[in-house]
Amino acid sequence: MKTFYIETFGCQMNAHDSEKVVGTLLNEGYTQTSDEADAGLILYNTCSIRDKAEQKVFHRLNEYKKLHGEGKRFAVIGCVAQQEGTKIFDRAPYVSIVAGSSSYRNLPDMLARLEAGETRITGLDDRQTDETFDTEFTARTNPHRGYITIIEGCDKFCAYCVVPYTRGKERSRTSASVLAEAQRIAQSGFTEIQLLGQNVNSYHDPSGKRTFAELLAAVGEVNGIQRVRFTTSHPRDFTRDIVDVIDAVPTLCDHVHLPVQSGSTAVLKAMQRDYTRDWYLERIAWTKAAKRDISLTSDIIVGFPGETDRDFEDTITLLEEVGYDAIYGFKYSPRPNTPAIHMEDSIPEEIKVQRLAILNARQREIQRTNYARHLNQIMPIMVEHGANSRGQITGRSTQNKTVNFSCDSVPAIGSYVDVRITQIFPSSLVGEAISQPTTPSPAAIAQAALNARVNPQPAEAV
Ligand code: 5AD
Ligand code: SF4
Repeated sequence: MKTFYIETFGCQMNAHDSEKVVGTLLNEGYTQTSDEADAGLILYNTCSIRDKAEQKVFHRLNEYKKLHGEGKRFAVIGCVAQQEGTKIFDRAPYVSIVAGSSSYRNLPDMLARLEAGETRITGLDDRQTDETFDTEFTARTNPHRGYITIIEGCDKFCAYCVVPYTRGKERSRTSASVLAEAQRIAQSGFTEIQLLGQNVNSYHDPSGKRTFAELLAAVGEVNGIQRVRFTTSHPRDFTRDIVDVIDAVPTLCDHVHLPVQSGSTAVLKAMQRDYTRDWYLERIAWTKAAKRDISLTSDIIVGFPGETDRDFEDTITLLEEVGYDAIYGFKYSPRPNTPAIHMEDSIPEEIKVQRLAILNARQREIQRTNYARHLNQIMPIMVEHGANSRGQITGRSTQNKTVNFSCDSVPAIGSYVDVRITQIFPSSLVGEAISQPTTPSPAAIAQAALNARVNPQPAEAV
């Protein structure tokens, strides 16, 4: 019974929540297994951002139960749990725990009740809580990147989005507690930190000590930290000092993910995004005016209710004007509880499919041009995967681009190598190492060994 298996769906926030859930379970005396068959307790940390993500969870539950479910206990946690609540017990009666992310601080109590034989245990807080989930027991399973949630929840209420209903209201941690965690992460051997929040730059220090930009600078100055990333930024709260601090602090990565969602001001209004195309483009202009070559990426939704051909054309011209290095394009998917659920989902599926294909094709061409500038450049790469079957190592540039490269020795995960770019693909670069890889600290090597034991489960891109 005290052996658990966890599977994570969805975004990086979810992946990091799983690290905290795993830490809590280990602290409660549970052992993690990488094989569902060996587990007494199976947890699915779920995503409900689009209907496909949600269906996947129910499919997974049914499939597993049919094959091997006997005698096992199931917990559905995360966004589908918060969204569907106790309906999950009706649909899948063998589930014992249904808990949303804002209730994880009560996990020890829920586990005790489970062990005492209770069957319908809920942790459903919706938008009531002011608390954040304690990070004391976080089990870090990413071998090269330490995640820190600086702000939970969302108060923006975009018309299409389920997050304000699944993750509760916006609540930031104090900058002092974020910095203390950054120091612990650095001491345990990580050199890269990613700050997380649904709207990371809506961060508001409850102690009033630091702005988001000042917090970025302070994390970037933590001893031992070489790279700091942050996702996801909301254009509404994207201030000029964020660009200035990237220019000023070398450890902050050259990358801003700034989802626009649509290039049409009319659609942005219907989406309740609270900015116009021109307002967004002004933020882009600041970023492009930086001294550093800051890579820009975005999320885009096609087929929002009422989106005309003309509106869609505005998205394509915006893509061209910004020249993103990558986008995540999605077909609009109606979500329960959201304001847009009351609008007619007026764009036929085949038009959505067509628009998404046009969007992705245009973006591919843009990337081909953008990436060409990297030919012959030398970039410091952080190693993320050892050699593949062709002997190539995979790592990432500060701009978050994937680089596959050859190297005389196989460098350790988390080490840094200078790579000369020799070939360009639309979404990756190929090169050769021109320096010896750095040697990770003994703490980093110990951390990597620990991670290998607990079977990291990378979250999918959403
Ligand atoms: N339909 C389609 N895409 C959505 N996203 C969020 N909600 C929806 C929805 N209902 C996209 C947005 C967001 C990304 C994480 O997922 O582009 O930025
Ligand atoms: Fe999915 Fe949004 Fe929940 Fe992340 S916060 S898991 S993207 S629904």
